Amino acid sequence: MPGMGNPLCAAALLAFVVSSVSVSLLIRSLQLGANKGAFANNGTADEQEFASRRSALLLHQLNERRKEIIPLLSTRGNDKKLLAESRYSPQEQQSFGAMFDYNLWNEITDGSRRMLMDEMDCDSLVGVQTGNVLGSGYTKLVLKVVLPQDQAVALKFVNEQGNDMEKCLEDFKDPRGCHELVAYKLKKEIVLLQRLKHPNIIKLRGHCMEVPGQDGDGGGRVTAILEQGYPVQMIQLLQSPWEERFRVCLGLVRLLHFLARSPLGSVGLLDFQPRQFVMVSGELKLTDLDDASVEEPACGTDGDCVLEFPHRNFTLACSGKGVCQDLNEKRNLYNAYRYFFTYLLPHQAPPGLTHLVDRIMNATGELRADINQTLGAFEQILLLYKSGLHLDNLPPSIIRDYTVMRGMATAGNVEYRCWPSYSQQGCVLAVHSTLEAAAVCSAHSQCTGFSLTGQRTWTGHLLVSFRSGFSHLVPDGRSEVYLRKAKASETSAV
Ligand SMILES: Nc1ncnc2c1ncn2[C@@H]1O[C@H](COP(=O)(O)OP(=O)(O)OP(=O)(O)O)[C@@H](O)[C@H]1O
Ligand SMILES: *[C@@H]1O[C@H](CO)[C@@H](O)[C@H](O)[C@H]1NC(C)=O
Ligand SMILES: *[C@@H]1O[C@H](CO)[C@@H](O)[C@H](O)[C@H]1NC(C)=O
Ligand SMILES: *[C@@H]1O[C@H](CO)[C@@H](O)[C@H](O)[C@H]1NC(C)=O
Ligand SMILES: *[C@@H]1O[C@H](CO)[C@@H](O)[C@H](O)[C@H]1NC(C)=O
Repeated sequence: MPGMGNPLCAAALLAFVVSSVSVSLLIRSLQLGANKGAFANNGTADEQEFASRRSALLLHQLNERRKEIIPLLSTRGNDKKLLAESRYSPQEQQSFGAMFDYNLWNEITDGSRRMLMDEMDCDSLVGVQTGNVLGSGYTKLVLKVVLPQDQAVALKFVNEQGNDMEKCLEDFKDPRGCHELVAYKLKKEIVLLQRLKHPNIIKLRGHCMEVPGQDGDGGGRVTAILEQGYPVQMIQLLQSPWEERFRVCLGLVRLLHFLARSPLGSVGLLDFQPRQFVMVSGELKLTDLDDASVEEPACGTDGDCVLEFPHRNFTLACSGKGVCQDLNEKRNLYNAYRYFFTYLLPHQAPPGLTHLVDRIMNATGELRADINQTLGAFEQILLLYKSGLHLDNLPPSIIRDYTVMRGMATAGNVEYRCWPSYSQQGCVLAVHSTLEAAAVCSAHSQCTGFSLTGQRTWTGHLLVSFRSGFSHLVPDGRSEVYLRKAKASETSAV
């Protein structure tokens, strides 16, 4: 801190960098200073100087973390537009903005009473038993808990054993200060989850920010209460039906479309990897938001706007306003391409849709399409897939090779395996129509018939069970059995 002789003074100045900084911090820094005075003959003057510089540095970092949260509290972008379109007077609009910011800010800095009406709060967590670990990372630890009424939720805490905490303790040797520092990441995430609601972002059910105690490490604990999911397992996804993999990619594109024009402006995910997401009933949801940024970098020339990836660099335009144009959107989209699309999308795509899939792969891989166009292309594929239009060259006559029995199910089935089956034991596939099912059965040499179970996938496709034989038929109102005529005789042999 050149030019600032007294580190304490520097700390106080830094503490005021943010206008509404909490007074408690300043007091703490003064107390730290007072302690140093009391132990005047403990260690050399240099060591003390070092220690107070260290605490000033920690204070500086705490303020940096606070400053990151401020732009997330102010209403701008879509929110501002919505407010402007509302019938409130400009004064009223301003008071909403100010009130919102102020309350949330107080809560974040002081752990004061919550002002936002989440479904759950600290009271919801009284007496609950924490269950197994769902996951952990550099910053956070996630545990499963079952609330009364058998509701499972995920609780996110600061990971006391994580790298973030470890590194801070190494640098500053201040457990309380470090906890506070790391907790800011979780606080930022809670604010983002409150501001960014989308079907592909994990649902914040509530949160609990305890008021920090005056002494000891108790209190000051931050807990996010979240909808519970499961880690994204790429290996498992790679083995799942195309329709399910497409669903993951579509969810991601819908998410990125939302983030590009979110209430906070264009949001960039700086740390974009499958482990930042979880699965909830087949739907991909973003859970790790602490590395999200709402800023686009400033620039002088296009050369300042280079997006670097391991195998590819892109130079973006520097806008007239001196910011890299759509950098967040483009970075998100290319990351979606390299971490998700390349693995999940092309493989086993329905033959009638491969040209559209290839087009998406090429356009996103070259960053030629923006997120709007990409979403448009995905929705078009979904529409075609749902309507079965991509199957229009199936010969309708093949259904005549089958005898149908409605209100019947098969028993004593002889299963065969196919890939990628919805069931481990047999061959269960999603089809658009009985005609497509007939085409599938006719293409499998083992197949002697199939049944419709009445179950459907998320796209409305029929789940059909294909088999090589069965011993007898049983009545079942919801089921239909189709027997392949040419092979029907073989079934009796079972
Ligand atoms: N709602 C949830 N349900 C189930 N598991 C979850 C949930 N949220 C997070 N997890 C799991 O916990 C892990 C850690 O959470 P998170 O990514 O927020 O922590 P982090 O410390 O920021 O991680 P990283 O070091 O990867 O950035 C995630 O990778 C995920 O597997
Ligand atoms: C020196 O400081 C340490 C902890 O900072 C303390 O435990 C110890 O009692 C102090 N010694 C003296 C002589 O004040
Ligand atoms: C991307 O840019 C970096 C820095 O300029 C350079 O080192 C790297 O070789 C480039 N990578 C590719 C694939 O062009
Ligand atoms: C896109 O297509 C062009 C022309 O066929 C090809 O040269 C390029 O490698 C493709 N890019 C990607 C990312 O697939
Ligand atoms: C995307 O679409 C929205 C509205 O449909 C539009 O306002 C926006 O400008 C489009 N973005 C791009 C990059 O074309």
